[in-house]
Amino acid sequence: MRIGAIELKSKWILAPMAGVSEMPFRRLAFRYGAGLCPTELVSSEGLVRASARTLRYLRRDEEAERPFAVQIFGGNPDSMARAAVVAKEHGADIIDINMGCPVPKVFKSGAGCALMADPARAAEIVRRIREATGLPVTAKIRSGLDSKRINCVEVGLALQEAGCVAIALHPRTRAQGYSGRADWSLIRELKEALEIPVIGNGDVKTVADAHRMLEETGCDAVMIGRGALGNPWLFRQLQGGPPPTPEERHRVVLEHFEDHVAFREDPRAAVRTFRNHIGWYSRGLVGAANFRARAMELETVDEVRRALDEFFSTALPDPRFHGQSEDDGIDYRTAYG
Ligand SMILES: Cc1cc2nc3c(=O)[nH]c(=O)nc-3n(C[C@H](O)[C@H](O)[C@H](O)COP(=O)(O)O)c2cc1C
Repeated sequence: MRIGAIELKSKWILAPMAGVSEMPFRRLAFRYGAGLCPTELVSSEGLVRASARTLRYLRRDEEAERPFAVQIFGGNPDSMARAAVVAKEHGADIIDINMGCPVPKVFKSGAGCALMADPARAAEIVRRIREATGLPVTAKIRSGLDSKRINCVEVGLALQEAGCVAIALHPRTRAQGYSGRADWSLIRELKEALEIPVIGNGDVKTVADAHRMLEETGCDAVMIGRGALGNPWLFRQLQGGPPPTPEERHRVVLEHFEDHVAFREDPRAAVRTFRNHIGWYSRGLVGAANFRARAMELETVDEVRRALDEFFSTALPDPRFHGQSEDDGIDYRTAYG
Protein backbone atom coordinates (compact mmCIF):
# COMPACT_ATOMS: atom_id res chain seq x y z
CA MET A 1 0.00 0.00 0.00
CA ARG A 2 1.47 3.34 -1.07
CA ILE A 3 0.54 6.92 -0.36
CA GLY A 4 2.17 8.66 -3.30
CA ALA A 5 5.81 7.56 -3.15
CA ILE A 6 5.55 6.49 0.51
CA GLU A 7 5.27 2.75 1.12
CA LEU A 8 3.27 1.89 4.25
CA LYS A 9 4.39 -0.97 6.50
CA SER A 10 0.88 -2.41 6.46
CA LYS A 11 -2.53 -1.74 5.01
CA TRP A 12 -4.12 -1.27 8.44
CA ILE A 13 -4.67 2.34 9.36
CA LEU A 14 -5.71 3.95 12.64
CA ALA A 15 -8.58 6.38 12.03
CA PRO A 16 -8.12 9.98 13.07
CA MET A 17 -10.16 10.48 16.24
CA ALA A 18 -10.30 13.79 18.04
CA GLY A 19 -9.12 13.53 21.64
CA VAL A 20 -8.19 9.87 21.14
CA SER A 21 -5.62 9.36 18.40
CA GLU A 22 -3.09 11.56 20.13
CA MET A 23 0.61 10.85 20.06
CA PRO A 24 0.71 8.30 22.92
CA PHE A 25 -2.03 6.21 21.35
CA ARG A 26 -0.74 6.61 17.79
CA ARG A 27 2.65 5.41 18.97
CA LEU A 28 1.10 2.23 20.37
CA ALA A 29 -0.85 1.61 17.17
CA PHE A 30 2.32 1.99 15.09
CA ARG A 31 4.19 -0.34 17.46
CA TYR A 32 1.62 -3.08 17.01
CA GLY A 33 1.57 -2.84 13.23
CA ALA A 34 -0.54 0.05 11.96
CA GLY A 35 0.87 1.37 8.69
CA LEU A 36 -0.41 4.90 9.22
CA CYS A 37 -1.89 6.85 12.14
CA PRO A 38 -3.00 10.33 11.10
CA THR A 39 -3.42 13.06 13.69
CA GLU A 40 -6.88 14.12 14.67
CA LEU A 41 -8.29 17.08 12.75
CA VAL A 42 -6.25 20.25 13.22
CA SER A 43 -7.62 23.71 12.45
CA SER A 44 -6.06 25.35 9.38
CA GLU A 45 -6.87 28.78 10.77
CA GLY A 46 -5.09 27.90 14.02
CA LEU A 47 -2.04 26.69 12.10
CA VAL A 48 -1.93 29.83 9.97
CA ARG A 49 -2.02 31.97 13.12
CA ALA A 50 0.61 29.65 14.61
CA SER A 51 -1.61 29.44 17.68
CA ALA A 52 0.30 27.69 20.45
CA ARG A 53 -2.78 25.62 21.28
CA THR A 54 -3.14 24.38 17.71
CA LEU A 55 0.55 23.65 17.27
CA ARG A 56 0.35 21.31 20.26
CA TYR A 57 -1.63 18.91 18.07
CA LEU A 58 1.46 18.46 15.90
CA ARG A 59 3.60 17.01 18.67
CA ARG A 60 4.78 13.55 17.70
CA ASP A 61 7.32 10.82 18.34
CA GLU A 62 9.76 11.28 15.49
CA GLU A 63 11.20 7.79 15.85
CA ALA A 64 7.97 5.84 16.06
CA GLU A 65 5.61 7.87 13.91
CA ARG A 66 6.69 7.29 10.36
CA PRO A 67 5.21 8.36 8.07
CA PHE A 68 3.58 11.26 9.86
CA ALA A 69 0.19 12.25 8.42
CA VAL A 70 -1.40 15.46 9.64
CA GLN A 71 -5.12 15.92 9.11
CA ILE A 72 -6.21 19.53 8.64
CA PHE A 73 -9.64 21.06 8.27
CA GLY A 74 -10.80 24.31 6.76
CA GLY A 75 -12.82 25.66 3.88
CA ASN A 76 -10.53 28.28 2.43
CA PRO A 77 -8.01 27.00 -0.16
CA ASP A 78 -5.53 29.75 0.64
CA SER A 79 -5.55 29.12 4.40
CA MET A 80 -5.46 25.38 3.86
CA ALA A 81 -2.33 25.71 1.69
CA ARG A 82 -0.64 27.95 4.24
CA ALA A 83 -1.63 25.63 7.07
CA ALA A 84 -0.19 22.66 5.18
CA VAL A 85 3.13 24.48 4.88
CA VAL A 86 3.16 24.94 8.67
CA ALA A 87 2.36 21.25 9.13
CA LYS A 88 5.23 20.37 6.78
CA GLU A 89 7.60 22.57 8.78
CA HIS A 90 6.55 20.53 11.83
CA GLY A 91 7.41 17.24 10.19
CA ALA A 92 4.33 16.22 8.19
CA ASP A 93 5.09 13.67 5.46
CA ILE A 94 1.48 13.49 4.29
CA ILE A 95 -1.34 16.06 4.45
CA ASP A 96 -4.83 14.62 4.93
CA ILE A 97 -7.87 16.81 4.41
CA ASN A 98 -10.93 16.37 6.60
CA MET A 99 -14.03 16.28 4.39
CA GLY A 100 -16.18 14.26 6.74
CA CYS A 101 -16.66 16.26 9.91
CA PRO A 102 -20.42 16.67 10.47
CA VAL A 103 -20.20 18.95 13.52
CA PRO A 104 -22.27 22.15 12.90
CA LYS A 105 -19.55 24.62 13.89
CA VAL A 106 -17.11 23.12 11.36
CA PHE A 107 -19.77 22.56 8.70
CA LYS A 108 -21.04 26.15 8.85
CA SER A 109 -17.56 27.47 8.20
CA GLY A 110 -17.53 25.59 4.89
CA ALA A 111 -15.13 22.94 6.19
CA GLY A 112 -15.35 19.21 6.95
CA CYS A 113 -18.34 17.58 5.32
CA ALA A 114 -19.38 20.90 3.73
CA LEU A 115 -16.68 20.23 1.14
CA MET A 116 -18.73 17.26 -0.09
CA ALA A 117 -21.26 19.82 -1.31
CA ASP A 118 -18.62 21.73 -3.26
CA PRO A 119 -16.34 19.30 -5.15
CA ALA A 120 -14.72 22.13 -7.12
CA ARG A 121 -13.56 23.87 -3.94
CA ALA A 122 -12.50 20.55 -2.42
CA ALA A 123 -10.37 19.88 -5.52
CA GLU A 124 -8.93 23.39 -5.41
CA ILE A 125 -7.81 22.75 -1.82
CA VAL A 126 -6.00 19.58 -2.90
CA ARG A 127 -4.29 21.42 -5.75
CA ARG A 128 -3.21 24.35 -3.63
CA ILE A 129 -1.77 22.14 -0.89
CA ARG A 130 0.16 20.07 -3.41
CA GLU A 131 1.61 23.16 -5.04
CA ALA A 132 2.49 24.79 -1.72
CA THR A 133 4.08 21.76 -0.05
CA GLY A 134 4.98 19.16 -2.68
CA LEU A 135 3.71 16.57 -0.18
CA PRO A 136 1.31 13.75 -0.98
CA VAL A 137 -2.25 14.84 -0.23
CA THR A 138 -5.04 12.50 0.87
CA ALA A 139 -8.66 13.14 1.81
CA LYS A 140 -11.15 11.54 4.15
CA ILE A 141 -14.70 11.81 2.90
CA ARG A 142 -18.22 10.62 3.74
CA SER A 143 -20.87 9.26 1.35
CA GLY A 144 -22.47 12.67 0.91
CA LEU A 145 -24.65 15.07 2.83
CA ASP A 146 -27.77 12.91 3.10
CA SER A 147 -29.46 9.96 1.44
CA LYS A 148 -30.64 12.13 -1.47
CA ARG A 149 -27.18 13.56 -2.08
CA ILE A 150 -24.81 10.59 -2.14
CA ASN A 151 -21.87 11.86 -4.21
CA CYS A 152 -18.71 10.23 -2.90
CA VAL A 153 -17.79 8.94 -6.38
CA GLU A 154 -18.19 12.38 -7.96
CA VAL A 155 -16.11 13.95 -5.18
CA GLY A 156 -13.53 11.15 -5.40
CA LEU A 157 -13.08 11.68 -9.15
CA ALA A 158 -12.67 15.44 -8.69
CA LEU A 159 -10.06 14.92 -5.96
CA GLN A 160 -8.15 12.36 -8.00
CA GLU A 161 -8.12 14.73 -10.96
CA ALA A 162 -6.67 17.41 -8.65
CA GLY A 163 -3.81 15.11 -7.66
CA CYS A 164 -5.06 13.53 -4.44
CA VAL A 165 -3.07 10.30 -3.96
CA ALA A 166 -5.48 8.26 -1.79
CA ILE A 167 -9.00 8.63 -0.43
CA ALA A 168 -10.49 7.22 2.76
CA LEU A 169 -14.25 6.75 2.69
CA HIS A 170 -16.44 6.52 5.78
CA PRO A 171 -19.64 5.55 3.98
CA ARG A 172 -22.22 7.28 6.13
CA THR A 173 -23.85 10.57 5.18
CA ARG A 174 -23.51 13.70 7.24
CA ALA A 175 -27.18 13.34 8.19
CA GLN A 176 -26.50 9.84 9.52
CA GLY A 177 -23.73 10.98 11.83
CA TYR A 178 -22.69 7.69 13.42
CA SER A 179 -26.07 5.96 13.31
CA GLY A 180 -27.04 2.99 11.19
CA ARG A 181 -24.47 0.90 9.40
CA ALA A 182 -21.69 2.07 7.14
CA ASP A 183 -22.68 1.21 3.54
CA TRP A 184 -19.66 -0.73 2.34
CA SER A 185 -21.12 -1.06 -1.18
CA LEU A 186 -20.13 2.61 -1.67
CA ILE A 187 -16.51 1.73 -0.89
CA ARG A 188 -16.68 -0.81 -3.71
CA GLU A 189 -18.22 1.77 -6.07
CA LEU A 190 -15.51 4.26 -5.24
CA LYS A 191 -12.78 1.65 -5.68
CA GLU A 192 -14.14 0.68 -9.08
CA ALA A 193 -14.30 4.32 -10.19
CA LEU A 194 -10.84 5.46 -9.08
CA GLU A 195 -7.26 4.61 -9.98
CA ILE A 196 -5.72 5.87 -6.75
CA PRO A 197 -5.86 3.71 -3.59
CA VAL A 198 -9.13 3.66 -1.68
CA ILE A 199 -9.09 3.22 2.09
CA GLY A 200 -12.26 1.62 3.46
CA ASN A 201 -13.57 2.74 6.84
CA GLY A 202 -16.59 2.11 9.01
CA ASP A 203 -17.69 -0.51 11.52
CA VAL A 204 -14.56 -2.68 11.40
CA LYS A 205 -14.30 -4.10 14.92
CA THR A 206 -12.47 -7.39 14.44
CA VAL A 207 -9.86 -9.11 12.28
CA ALA A 208 -12.69 -10.91 10.48
CA ASP A 209 -14.47 -7.61 9.74
CA ALA A 210 -11.30 -6.17 8.25
CA HIS A 211 -10.79 -9.12 5.93
CA ARG A 212 -14.45 -9.09 4.97
CA MET A 213 -14.16 -5.41 4.06
CA LEU A 214 -11.14 -6.12 1.83
CA GLU A 215 -13.00 -8.96 0.11
CA GLU A 216 -16.36 -7.28 -0.27
CA THR A 217 -15.11 -3.91 -1.45
CA GLY A 218 -11.70 -4.55 -3.05
CA CYS A 219 -10.35 -1.56 -1.09
CA ASP A 220 -6.58 -1.18 -0.79
CA ALA A 221 -6.39 -0.52 2.94
CA VAL A 222 -8.66 -0.61 5.96
CA MET A 223 -9.00 2.24 8.46
CA ILE A 224 -10.14 1.39 11.98
CA GLY A 225 -11.43 3.81 14.58
CA ARG A 226 -13.67 2.65 17.39
CA GLY A 227 -12.55 -0.98 17.03
CA ALA A 228 -9.03 0.03 18.07
CA LEU A 229 -10.10 1.87 21.22
CA GLY A 230 -8.50 0.15 24.17
CA ASN A 231 -7.20 -2.42 21.70
CA PRO A 232 -4.08 -1.31 19.83
CA TRP A 233 -3.20 -5.03 19.63
CA LEU A 234 -5.86 -5.35 16.95
CA PHE A 235 -3.17 -4.17 14.52
CA ARG A 236 -0.90 -7.03 15.60
CA GLN A 237 -3.73 -9.53 15.28
CA LEU A 238 -4.41 -8.22 11.77
CA GLN A 239 -0.81 -9.22 10.93
CA GLY A 240 -1.47 -12.71 12.27
CA GLY A 241 -0.14 -12.05 15.78
CA PRO A 242 -1.69 -12.95 19.15
CA PRO A 243 -4.09 -10.93 21.31
CA PRO A 244 -2.50 -9.40 24.42
CA THR A 245 -1.78 -11.54 27.44
CA PRO A 246 -3.18 -10.14 30.72
CA GLU A 247 0.41 -9.18 31.75
CA GLU A 248 0.95 -7.33 28.50
CA ARG A 249 -2.34 -5.48 28.79
CA HIS A 250 -1.44 -4.48 32.35
CA ARG A 251 1.99 -3.19 31.32
CA VAL A 252 0.77 -1.30 28.24
CA VAL A 253 -2.19 0.37 29.97
CA LEU A 254 0.21 1.71 32.61
CA GLU A 255 2.64 2.82 29.93
CA HIS A 256 -0.13 4.55 27.98
CA PHE A 257 -1.28 6.33 31.13
CA GLU A 258 2.23 7.60 31.95
CA ASP A 259 2.69 8.81 28.37
CA HIS A 260 -0.73 10.42 28.44
CA VAL A 261 0.11 12.33 31.62
CA ALA A 262 3.40 13.55 30.14
CA PHE A 263 1.66 14.49 26.88
CA ARG A 264 -1.19 16.41 28.52
CA GLU A 265 1.20 18.25 30.85
CA ASP A 266 -1.67 19.05 33.28
CA PRO A 267 -1.98 15.97 35.55
CA ARG A 268 -5.59 16.64 36.66
CA ALA A 269 -6.73 17.10 33.07
CA ALA A 270 -4.82 13.96 32.10
CA VAL A 271 -6.65 11.94 34.76
CA ARG A 272 -10.00 13.15 33.41
CA THR A 273 -9.20 12.54 29.75
CA PHE A 274 -7.74 9.09 30.42
CA ARG A 275 -11.05 7.89 31.90
CA ASN A 276 -12.38 7.04 28.44
CA HIS A 277 -9.29 4.93 27.73
CA ILE A 278 -9.77 3.13 31.05
CA GLY A 279 -13.29 2.26 29.97
CA TRP A 280 -12.10 0.95 26.62
CA TYR A 281 -9.15 -1.05 27.96
CA SER A 282 -11.36 -2.78 30.52
CA ARG A 283 -14.05 -3.72 27.99
CA GLY A 284 -14.69 -7.44 28.02
CA LEU A 285 -12.87 -8.10 31.32
CA VAL A 286 -14.51 -9.51 34.45
CA GLY A 287 -15.60 -6.69 36.77
CA ALA A 288 -15.21 -3.98 34.12
CA ALA A 289 -18.45 -2.16 34.94
CA ASN A 290 -17.55 -1.75 38.63
CA PHE A 291 -14.03 -0.74 37.78
CA ARG A 292 -15.22 1.88 35.31
CA ALA A 293 -17.60 3.39 37.86
CA ARG A 294 -14.72 3.58 40.34
CA ALA A 295 -12.40 5.11 37.77
CA MET A 296 -14.81 8.01 37.32
CA GLU A 297 -14.11 9.06 40.89
CA LEU A 298 -10.33 9.06 40.67
CA GLU A 299 -8.71 12.47 40.84
CA THR A 300 -4.94 12.14 41.08
CA VAL A 301 -2.27 10.46 39.00
CA ASP A 302 -1.27 8.26 41.94
CA GLU A 303 -4.83 7.10 42.51
CA VAL A 304 -5.15 6.14 38.85
CA ARG A 305 -1.79 4.34 38.89
CA ARG A 306 -2.85 2.30 41.91
CA ALA A 307 -6.30 1.50 40.52
CA LEU A 308 -4.90 0.43 37.13
CA ASP A 309 -2.31 -1.74 38.83
CA GLU A 310 -4.88 -3.41 41.04
CA PHE A 311 -7.43 -4.08 38.32
CA PHE A 312 -5.24 -5.05 35.37
CA SER A 313 -2.85 -7.24 37.38
CA THR A 314 -5.69 -9.67 38.06
CA ALA A 315 -8.35 -8.96 35.39
CA LEU A 316 -9.34 -11.87 33.20
CA PRO A 317 -11.45 -11.95 30.03
CA ASP A 318 -15.17 -12.32 30.65
CA PRO A 319 -16.32 -15.42 28.75
CA ARG A 320 -19.79 -13.88 28.35
CA PHE A 321 -18.43 -10.90 26.42
CA HIS A 322 -18.79 -11.03 22.66
CA GLY A 323 -17.57 -7.60 21.73
CA GLN A 324 -20.99 -6.06 21.17
CA SER A 325 -23.73 -4.05 22.75
CA GLU A 326 -21.65 -2.11 25.21
CA ASP A 327 -21.88 1.64 25.32
CA ASP A 328 -18.58 2.91 23.94
CA GLY A 329 -18.69 6.06 26.05
CA ILE A 330 -18.25 8.34 23.05
CA ASP A 331 -20.06 11.65 22.85
CA TYR A 332 -21.00 11.54 19.17
CA ARG A 333 -21.90 15.23 19.11
CA THR A 334 -18.19 15.90 19.26
CA ALA A 335 -16.96 13.08 17.01
CA TYR A 336 -15.42 14.87 14.11
CA GLY A 337 -15.41 12.67 11.04
C1 LIG B 1 -14.36 10.12 19.07
C2 LIG B 1 -14.23 10.24 17.59
C3 LIG B 1 -13.50 11.28 17.05
C4 LIG B 1 -13.35 11.39 15.66
N1 LIG B 1 -12.57 12.41 15.15
C5 LIG B 1 -12.30 12.44 13.81
C6 LIG B 1 -11.37 13.37 13.27
O1 LIG B 1 -10.74 14.17 13.98
N2 LIG B 1 -11.17 13.36 11.92
C7 LIG B 1 -11.82 12.48 11.09
O2 LIG B 1 -11.61 12.49 9.89
N3 LIG B 1 -12.68 11.57 11.59
C8 LIG B 1 -12.92 11.52 12.92
N4 LIG B 1 -13.76 10.55 13.42
C9 LIG B 1 -14.35 9.55 12.50
C10 LIG B 1 -13.46 8.31 12.43
O3 LIG B 1 -12.21 8.63 11.86
C11 LIG B 1 -14.14 7.21 11.58
O4 LIG B 1 -14.38 7.70 10.29
C12 LIG B 1 -15.46 6.73 12.17
O5 LIG B 1 -15.36 6.54 13.57
C13 LIG B 1 -15.91 5.42 11.50
O6 LIG B 1 -14.95 4.40 11.68
P1 LIG B 1 -15.09 3.25 12.82
O7 LIG B 1 -16.43 2.60 12.62
O8 LIG B 1 -13.94 2.34 12.57
O9 LIG B 1 -15.04 3.95 14.13
C14 LIG B 1 -13.95 10.46 14.79
C15 LIG B 1 -14.70 9.40 15.34
C16 LIG B 1 -14.83 9.27 16.72
C17 LIG B 1 -15.60 8.11 17.26
